[in-house]
Amino acid sequence: MAAMSTSVGTRLLVMVLSATLAVTQGYWVGVGQADVTGPAADVNMMGYAMPAQTTGGIHFRLRARAFVFGDDEAANDPNATRVAFVSLDACMGTQAVTDAVVSRLEKRFPGVYSAETISISGTHTHSAPAGFLQNVLFQVPSLGFVHEAFESFVSGIVEAIARAHESARAGRKMEVSRAAMAPGEANINRSPSGYANNPKEERELYGHNTDLNATVLRIEESDGTPVGMVNWFSVHGTSMPNTNHLISGDNKGYASQLFDAWYNGPEVLTGNGSFVSAFASTNLGDVSPNINGTFCSDSGEPCEELHSTCHGFNEQCHGRGPSDDPFESTRIVGTRQAEFARKLYDRVEGAALVRAAVDGPIKSAHVYRDMSNLEVELEGGKTVRTCKPALGYSFAAGTTDGPGAFDFVQSEKSTNPLWEMLRNILKKPSDELKACQHPKPVLLPTGEMTEPYPWHPVVMPISIFQIGYQLAIINVPSEFTTMAGRRMRAAVRAKLVEGGGFDAQNGVVVIAGLANEYSSYVTTLEEYEVQRYEAASTLYGPYTHAGYVQEAVKLAGALNSDTKPSSGPAPPSLMGHQISLLPPPLPDTVPMGSHFGDVKTDVEASYDLAPDTLVSATFWSANPRNNMRLGGTYLTVEYQNTSGVWEVIATDSEFETRFIYQKLSAISLHSVATVEWRPGQALRKIVPGKYRLRHFGDRKHLTGRISSFEGTSRVFELQAAPPRRYGGSWAEAF
Ligand SMILES: *[C@@H]1O[C@H](CO)[C@@H](O)[C@H](O)[C@H]1NC(C)=O
Ligand SMILES: *[C@@H]1O[C@H](CO)[C@@H](O)[C@H](O)[C@H]1NC(C)=O
Ligand SMILES: *[C@@H]1O[C@H](CO)[C@@H](O)[C@H](O)[C@H]1NC(C)=O
Ligand SMILES: *[C@@H]1O[C@H](CO)[C@@H](O)[C@H](O)[C@H]1NC(C)=O
Ligand SMILES: *[C@@H]1O[C@H](CO)[C@@H](O)[C@H](O)[C@H]1NC(C)=O
Repeated sequence: MAAMSTSVGTRLLVMVLSATLAVTQGYWVGVGQADVTGPAADVNMMGYAMPAQTTGGIHFRLRARAFVFGDDEAANDPNATRVAFVSLDACMGTQAVTDAVVSRLEKRFPGVYSAETISISGTHTHSAPAGFLQNVLFQVPSLGFVHEAFESFVSGIVEAIARAHESARAGRKMEVSRAAMAPGEANINRSPSGYANNPKEERELYGHNTDLNATVLRIEESDGTPVGMVNWFSVHGTSMPNTNHLISGDNKGYASQLFDAWYNGPEVLTGNGSFVSAFASTNLGDVSPNINGTFCSDSGEPCEELHSTCHGFNEQCHGRGPSDDPFESTRIVGTRQAEFARKLYDRVEGAALVRAAVDGPIKSAHVYRDMSNLEVELEGGKTVRTCKPALGYSFAAGTTDGPGAFDFVQSEKSTNPLWEMLRNILKKPSDELKACQHPKPVLLPTGEMTEPYPWHPVVMPISIFQIGYQLAIINVPSEFTTMAGRRMRAAVRAKLVEGGGFDAQNGVVVIAGLANEYSSYVTTLEEYEVQRYEAASTLYGPYTHAGYVQEAVKLAGALNSDTKPSSGPAPPSLMGHQISLLPPPLPDTVPMGSHFGDVKTDVEASYDLAPDTLVSATFWSANPRNNMRLGGTYLTVEYQNTSGVWEVIATDSEFETRFIYQKLSAISLHSVATVEWRPGQALRKIVPGKYRLRHFGDRKHLTGRISSFEGTSRVFELQAAPPRRYGGSWAEAF
């Protein structure tokens, strides 16, 4: 730029001055979290689209983790700008959830939060309930809309934001830092042949086919006491496979609970401390946590790379590692993200590539855009349009994190007559749609499928939250691939820097993925040409990505000039049309002579306190859908302290417990709950002594009335492990 406008010049001067004087600005910031765990039985899990993958218990509870930001004036001025960022243990954020959250918040904090100033970004766990999206395609496996799942998410998010708002204080400080994790440490590209089609010069700028940078926002009191942390690192929440039935926050959820335990203290139960961390999702579209690569489950050989197949078929090709045990993979990938974030958070010498105190205003800009009909101006001035949504053939192949059940392979560009026929029963794509989506071979023309209501959404929210001069969060309603995200970040950063209101040297731009609505994937144009799963799921045609980038850059321009962009079409609400085919829970019964909560199989009398010890008891139980017990628990592990008092040392929120719910058969009204405890995996120190397991549940009577019950195992002894043997002799003997 030849000449700089006065306002840009002034802003630069302010930034330079505040940097030289080392003035650290205070902010009104609050953190809060709440339980959002929904129905722990019968309900399909969102992500792998496997109808048979339904919930049957809890590994650890799901949470909403909320952070509210304002300038210091926000403490006294109800009209000051505030934004709320929520990282949600769910597959994604959705418009239906955001709208309901906003309308409930309006009653509690009138005029303070709106859909424009809230970002609800899903962590992308594939082990959380489905049924909270409004469009047909996302509801097929879950038998439609699931009110219990929707309600648990909405009420928990409202509670988390309210807690953040009510605990917010002025004068808090923030710092942004960033550094690169090692290649393969916690992520791997699962569509490398798609990535490789991006221009060589562009790939060389970055050096690796996944984003390795982890970004940390440190929130602290004016005296430096830790208050909270938000981390962004690109990886799918798919350490748990499509055979899992236990609700879980996956690797991101575990990273948060570990990080919270470090700053709240290991004795504080998960979800009960004032320090709140979030490991939020970002541009993770083509990024897997199964870091050992893809292998054929029959031969053990690596899969064929271009199509991710074994002997021509996709079903056998799976991502693998780091462990063979998915719970252990969740723990390892979560721990690596948390430990890396801790080095940045604790300001370990030499750990950060970038470290900058946050100063400057809190701002936001938001628009809705009809992504099915957006005019996009390409570089060089050519004008193109996005398309009505459609899915390509490779969509049905799934990914190596969860291969599709049908015989489709990735990078499919030809068509299959059988599917063509099945598809035509549903809907034959128009010639216009086929031409617009080219080179994607259209499997499902979802943009032309409107019965019983639209199969895919088209009005998408996009927003940017600016946290001072050093951090900008781009909230996007999709899964951007590695390069799609990089291009968007670079374009937005350049625009913000050009406006003079962003730190050119240290300013960090992050993408908050799967935020506020879900429109599947977004790949670059070059990746679109290769048509792997992510490209087949890029809904609005080849220029989807260019369209999103164009709108995000305009938002950056609006932030620069402090103007409000035209808000665009309001997203239609389909809530009045939702179909729900999931039957309500049946009444519960127990066998003659037993009572609800009775122990069916008890714990042993004693156990060794060894790393792999498993304590377990099974109780006669009832469908957990009778009561979600939000903020509560279906189990406790209790320790009898030396005063004889039973202290709760674990609930179903902890990693070391599992609540496993099973019906005796598909038609039986009898069901059992198994409570498992692995003391060797606890974050707190477990001492030898007397313990017991308890189970809490709620039964439905034949009349429909619901009443609660509980059960307790016998008391068992945990004994110090015997001395370890080495090479056949007692090590202690030497
Ligand atoms: C906040 O905005 C409302 C509506 O514009 C206005 O009536 C009210 O006076 C403002 N309050 C303050 C403290 O500025
Ligand atoms: C990682 O972050 C640093 C500092 O912001 C930046 O210079 C570098 O380009 C980033 N690396 C990638 C691959 O994005
Ligand atoms: C959670 O914390 C509150 C206050 O810090 C305490 O009163 C309560 O007993 C705790 N709950 C549990 C289950 O530990
Ligand atoms: C993954 O690779 C690591 C390091 O080579 C190895 O120790 C581990 O056993 C592998 N895991 C699987 C499941 O193959
Ligand atoms: C036992 O637990 C109770 C309740 O938490 C507590 O008041 C008491 O101090 C504890 N006793 C010991 C010896 O820790």
